[in-house]
Amino acid sequence: MGSTHGTRPQRATDGIRDRPPIRQGTGGTVMANPTFAAIDIGTTKVCTVVAEIIAGEIRILGTGVGPSAGLNKGMVDNIHAAIEAIASSVDKAERASGTRILSAHVGIAGPHVSSMNSRGIVAIADPRHPITDGDVQRALESARIVNIPNNREVIHVVPRYYVVDGQDHVVDPLGMFGSRLDVETHVVTAGSSAMHNLMQCVEGAGVRVDSLILEPLASAEAVVDQEELNQGVVLCDIGGGTTDLAVFVQGAVIHTAVLPVGGQNMTKDLVVALRVPQPAAEITKRKFGHAIPSMVEDDEVLVDAFGSEGTKSVRRRLIAEVLQARTEELFETVLSEIRRATQHDTLSAGLVLTGGASSLPGIELLAEDVIGLPARIGRPHHLAGLSDQLSDPAYSTSVGLLRMAMKSHDVMFRTAPLLPSASLGGLLRKVAHLMRLVLPQ
Ligand SMILES: Nc1ncnc2c1ncn2[C@@H]1O[C@H](COP(=O)(O)OP(=O)(O)OP(=O)(O)O)[C@@H](O)[C@H]1O
Ligand SMILES: [Mg+2]
Repeated sequence: MGSTHGTRPQRATDGIRDRPPIRQGTGGTVMANPTFAAIDIGTTKVCTVVAEIIAGEIRILGTGVGPSAGLNKGMVDNIHAAIEAIASSVDKAERASGTRILSAHVGIAGPHVSSMNSRGIVAIADPRHPITDGDVQRALESARIVNIPNNREVIHVVPRYYVVDGQDHVVDPLGMFGSRLDVETHVVTAGSSAMHNLMQCVEGAGVRVDSLILEPLASAEAVVDQEELNQGVVLCDIGGGTTDLAVFVQGAVIHTAVLPVGGQNMTKDLVVALRVPQPAAEITKRKFGHAIPSMVEDDEVLVDAFGSEGTKSVRRRLIAEVLQARTEELFETVLSEIRRATQHDTLSAGLVLTGGASSLPGIELLAEDVIGLPARIGRPHHLAGLSDQLSDPAYSTSVGLLRMAMKSHDVMFRTAPLLPSASLGGLLRKVAHLMRLVLPQ
């Protein structure tokens, strides 16, 4: 399972990069410290992180961040450009960590993702024996049989809770006695072509896909704490092209969604409202932006502009007004997603905002105002190693992918034989295992 060491598999596929080894691998022997790689292929950046696990804790070995390309609203729209961007980020991470990345856990998002709740039911063959992992797997498999069009595929079957002979909200049925096992799950599906395009890009960059993980679930793993999960919380990752949502009630996910709006829309609004080039609008947003106009001085700032003069003076409050309008609209859409999922009184912990665009000052106050729930900014923390850069909210997904990879590793060592990793079916089963461990504690 070690994803970064060993001999690179030979591949014959056209377009697949071949990179020279950086460090001698361990030749398939079991490593003292398991090493993992994760790739977050965002709309604005690609981030590859390599980490090892020491005494149950993640230690970052190296990070490779580069600009993204070939992606729009979280979906691949130019395979060659995306392969190049991924390869460049992987190269940087390999150099930084001194390891060779053979395979990685990869985030998936985009408006093609949708989710539903589904119940699986199985009879226990011999109620005199305790419920086994095999029974749980059968229940999950039965929940996975949902009615979806044949151009969609199931990527996650997340157990929310179990019911053993009518006893509700069982967290872990293993070892219990019963004659019937039900599992309530959250099933996430993705458009087949969007999913295969993404996998093709990663493989094209010379990296095998260990698992595909829905990005808001990964981000939640990095920044939401257990008490917030228990009391009900919404994870809201506002990236460049998408806003990823995951709604948790009583410690388990009940709704996930990916909205096609993010920080790039805020920048584009500034381009139009101020009539300035995109790079200037991006700098202006990061330097002078605020989500609450009344909280900024009404002074003027100089920004690069189109036209004969090359620069222009802009009121800071106008910048904030433009950003507020877009952000307010975004939170109204988030509010309707929340209403589709649950009632406000099940979400005592409110919202955890993360993703690069959550660095906009005042954004949590605007979220509280529009959504009517408490809000805070979530940053990845508790990381050893070279982790300073990763504590920015833009890296929540990358860190969450690593955390989920770490837990899946535990599962794979507990459940022999190992599941096949090359086939998609194997991949899905691995993810189902992984999610079982991660979420419903
Ligand atoms: N200080 C800041 N103020 C406002 N916005 C910011 C700030 N810093 C970064 N951003 C915005 O964050 C966005 C990038 O966020 P992030 O890196 O999380 O996106 P991504 O993961 O590449 O994209 P996605 O998740 O949407 O596919 C950009 O639109 C950028 O303008
Ligand atoms: Mg992102």
